[in-house]
Amino acid sequence: MSLAGKRFLIIGATQGIGRALAALVAGQGADLIVASRSPERVAKLTGELAATGRLTGKVIDLTDPASISAGMKAAGKIDHLAIPGSAVAFGSFRELDVADAMASMLSKFWGPYQAVREADFSARASVALFSGSASRKPIGAAALTAINSAVEGLGRGLAHELAPVRVNVICPGLVDTEMWSRLPNGQRGEMMEQARRRLPARHVGTAREIAELTLAVLLNPYMTGTVVDIDGGGQVA
Ligand SMILES: NC(=O)c1ccc[n+]([C@@H]2O[C@H](COP(=O)([O-])OP(=O)(O)OC[C@H]3O[C@@H](n4cnc5c(N)ncnc54)[C@H](OP(=O)(O)O)[C@@H]3O)[C@@H](O)[C@H]2O)c1
Repeated sequence: MSLAGKRFLIIGATQGIGRALAALVAGQGADLIVASRSPERVAKLTGELAATGRLTGKVIDLTDPASISAGMKAAGKIDHLAIPGSAVAFGSFRELDVADAMASMLSKFWGPYQAVREADFSARASVALFSGSASRKPIGAAALTAINSAVEGLGRGLAHELAPVRVNVICPGLVDTEMWSRLPNGQRGEMMEQARRRLPARHVGTAREIAELTLAVLLNPYMTGTVVDIDGGGQVA
């Protein structure tokens, strides 16, 4: 599938999986729009990828309805939309503040919900949303399980209602991205090492591996309404 001439919007492109997807798409002839909530980080990314060609940076904050409306309007007609952007709070049901759980839901569920609703899709457009394997395998963070499950339900509902626009959900297991930089170094390393030993794939996922799958799913004309696991075998470990 060619990306030439296609408009490709990534919301949450400045690090992790979104950054890897931007690097993969850049230079393949698409009109690439990279977005996140941070003007500085968007400017840094567009600077880094400038040599690859048709690239625009946009500030879109998934927790701010006005920002989403303005960003989606400015994006114009979209062929491919990926939304790996989110900032979620981790914590057990008893420990996580309700306000933090609600803010996580806003960022990872309602933000993408509104962005898709306000997108102007071309006739054969495709969308990739992101959940996480905590949707089906609780990890001691009930809010996260609920949010990821909600994203997966949204993907199925949208695939049904927006057809022939295709909508799929990418469901990663543990991936070694900057998302984990919130953990103290020792703890992050220990978590990754334990996962490496536990997972049937015997390594922790990389942003590039998830980005490659995301691009394949976005471009495959027969895929819609699915939740695609990429977790190193975490569900069967
Ligand atoms: N990494 C994992 O182990 C893992 C596992 C399961 C599921 N996932 C899910 O996969 C997705 C991508 O994960 P990741 O590891 O790549 O995350 P990440 O490294 O934390 O990157 C998140 C991206 O989202 C952007 N972002 C955060 N809040 C935003 C907002 N309000 N509006 C717009 N952009 C926002 C950030 O950019 P700025 O700071 O510049 O705004 C950043 O580019 C997330 O939904 C995550 O929950 C990840």
